[in-house]
Amino acid sequence: MRGKSVLLIIGGGIAAYKSLELVRRLKDRGVSVRAIMTKAAAEFVTPLSVASLSGERVFQDLFSLTDEAEMGHIQLSRSADLVVVAPATADLMAKLAGGHANDLASTALLATDKAVLMAPAMNVRMWNHPATQRNLKTLKSDGVLFVGPNEGDMACGEFGPGRMAEPNEIASAIENYFRSDRGALDGVRALVTAGPTQEPLDPVRFIANRSSGKQGYAIADALARAGADTTLVSGPVEIAPPTGVWLLKVTTAREMLAACESALPADVAVCTAAVADWRPEITANNKIKKEKGAATPSIRLIENPDILATLAKHRQRPQLLIGFAAETEDVVAHAAAKRLRKGCDWIVANDVSPHTGIMGGERNTVHLITANGAENWPELAKSEVGSRLAARIAETLKGKAA
Ligand code: C5P
Repeated sequence: MRGKSVLLIIGGGIAAYKSLELVRRLKDRGVSVRAIMTKAAAEFVTPLSVASLSGERVFQDLFSLTDEAEMGHIQLSRSADLVVVAPATADLMAKLAGGHANDLASTALLATDKAVLMAPAMNVRMWNHPATQRNLKTLKSDGVLFVGPNEGDMACGEFGPGRMAEPNEIASAIENYFRSDRGALDGVRALVTAGPTQEPLDPVRFIANRSSGKQGYAIADALARAGADTTLVSGPVEIAPPTGVWLLKVTTAREMLAACESALPADVAVCTAAVADWRPEITANNKIKKEKGAATPSIRLIENPDILATLAKHRQRPQLLIGFAAETEDVVAHAAAKRLRKGCDWIVANDVSPHTGIMGGERNTVHLITANGAENWPELAKSEVGSRLAARIAETLKGKAA
């Protein structure tokens, strides 16, 4: 990302002190940083510190004659390759989601023609408030990118999601944005499976699992952003589909397999779904009744098709086939064995023991297992795992085509 430029909008929150570190990290990586500070931000860190670290003057006022004479606010909003908001306060998120422009920061956000990456930071209740969550949804569907927030102890003494991502995480999200090689997957057809499957016992009951679909959705999003023509085959989940992705919603494993086969040919397939291994042998047409005195029913299970293994043997096998392995012990060894057993090219393995909080959480620590061995990736946001994987897929497919 050397030679790139970032417009950093610093919002007013205690996490603003971390933005100073972010400026340093970006400068170290050869990125030029121009900063806008809100009035409240200047209560937490001084514009002088920001100016000293960035080596550029800091913009604060929408109606400053000097600012406007030097560079109009519209020009300022477009002067960088990426706009980063850190900390992104509840207020800044609300302003952009609502289209408000009553100070320099919000005006620049509305006027920019560049991508916006937000690193939210706020009290856990503010983050969980339906208004903030509504704004988050709106901003995501408007294409705003996010890094964090993380879960942890907060300056206000509470615990939960709301801590701003660490400066190195924000820097690597920025790096990923610049690397996410827009167009790196142009012309590539991708298939992603995500979420759980539900296997019905009767019209109202089913067997399922705790998969949230977050990791699979993040991968589909990253592939689509890199230009791939992406089909996402998803079991029942609660998350909004990423923009630019062709979504096929299914319920059972057999429906998921049929949807995957209908999406072939594909150059790459990523099987993230937590497919139920078994389904009830018989699905009752009517609700199974609890009759007084009747014996407790027993459920006989039969095996579901293995979608990943089926794709591996398919006559239209994607040239790069990637499986996931959710393990609770000996993660890498089990995953390496699974790669061979399933006949796929890579396995992305993670430890889903309950204490890791991976299932349903926002973050993931994975190991990438290929024919060349195992790579241990650091703990990352699921969106970052998606971007890195998309970058690796692009590299590999390019290598194969050459
Ligand atoms: O065997 P296991 O379920 O641990 O394998 C996990 C990998 O296999 C994941 O990539 C998952 O999406 C895939 N899988 C599948 N169909 C199944 C079971 C697992 O595609 N019936």
